[in-house]
Amino acid sequence: MPCFFIFFLSCKSRDFNLDEMEFAGEQLKTAFEEIEKVRLNYPELVSPRSLRADTLFLVKPRDWTSGFFAGNLWWMYEATGEDFWKQKAMEFTAPLESIKNYRGTHDLGFMIYNSFGKGFQLTGNKEYHAVMLDAADALISRFDERVGAIRSWDHNRDKWQFPVIIDNMMNLEFLFWATKATGDSSYYKVADAHAETTLANHFRADFSSYHVIDYDTLTGEVRNKHTHQGYAHESAWSRGQAWGLYGYVMCYRETGKVKYLEMAERIAKLMLDHPNMPEDLVPYWDYDAPDIPYAPRDASAAAIMASAMLELDGYLPGNDHYYRRTAIQVLDNLTSSYRSDLGANKGFILDHSTGHLPGEHEVDVPLVYADYYYLEALHRKHEVRFTSENKF
Ligand code: GLY
Repeated sequence: MPCFFIFFLSCKSRDFNLDEMEFAGEQLKTAFEEIEKVRLNYPELVSPRSLRADTLFLVKPRDWTSGFFAGNLWWMYEATGEDFWKQKAMEFTAPLESIKNYRGTHDLGFMIYNSFGKGFQLTGNKEYHAVMLDAADALISRFDERVGAIRSWDHNRDKWQFPVIIDNMMNLEFLFWATKATGDSSYYKVADAHAETTLANHFRADFSSYHVIDYDTLTGEVRNKHTHQGYAHESAWSRGQAWGLYGYVMCYRETGKVKYLEMAERIAKLMLDHPNMPEDLVPYWDYDAPDIPYAPRDASAAAIMASAMLELDGYLPGNDHYYRRTAIQVLDNLTSSYRSDLGANKGFILDHSTGHLPGEHEVDVPLVYADYYYLEALHRKHEVRFTSENKF
């Protein structure tokens, strides 16, 4: 590595709160040991997702969460500049190449952009670039002109014809990147159309969002407004609100459309001003959970929200940095009260997230994507400006 680059990285690493990053590094080293033990018997599993019955739960490349652990390692490399983290990040990124042509999911943004994409941003590796372009093609193959959106899931065909979930907003960033990388506007058009369709159909009058909108494949009309992971069809599932917020902040960055920024602000207000938002700003798993204040929290929703608000704040000059200050408060609360004990939880950084309460799994547990957005938000705390150009 050239000297000037080492100098740049070491200057950069001083910006981070070392305690937080050192803690994350120690946890990730514990994770390596735990992963190795599981993989002795299950070598086809590539990436940690959560704990189930106190056992480390690893996934195959096709799981929607497969890219986050590699992403966490890339965050560590970005923060420290240490070759150790680069080698580890490359090791956990490599097995995901097998999904580059997989057309069975809308989650290729999470899976490929957060792993290969972060790696490409930091190393310029041309092989990563090629994998990303294949995966972007696989992702746009799920776009339907009549609906004007990317199909999210293929399961539950008896219930939904063409389900689109609010989470899908997160995968659009990958498509905006693909247009910048190739000069081909098709990816941008698909991403923007999807964001427009979601804006039109996913939100209620109070700007909370439905989880699943089911479209008619013949007419493109809305058939049903449902939930899958939330408490009820008409409730506000917390992580869904956070995905929507993050998605519209990002879509504003990539398109400059003010209506996306306005929607992001409305969602942010809904989340923060909601009467059921706890004082520490780490939401219950659903804003309408019937057992509040005893309902489980979702630290992943808090981490996603904090990361999104740090970017949102940069687009609202003269707002006395309300969103930035709030996001930092959320991060401080996550650090002080939601972190794993050092060496515990098989190496996950944060505890107390909820993945799928109605499905009766991943309730009040660590989740790898909570860690990913927590690390991203710690990183963003030090990056004041966002433009389409300074994103990879
Ligand atoms: N994207 C799936 C979830 O948020 O649980």
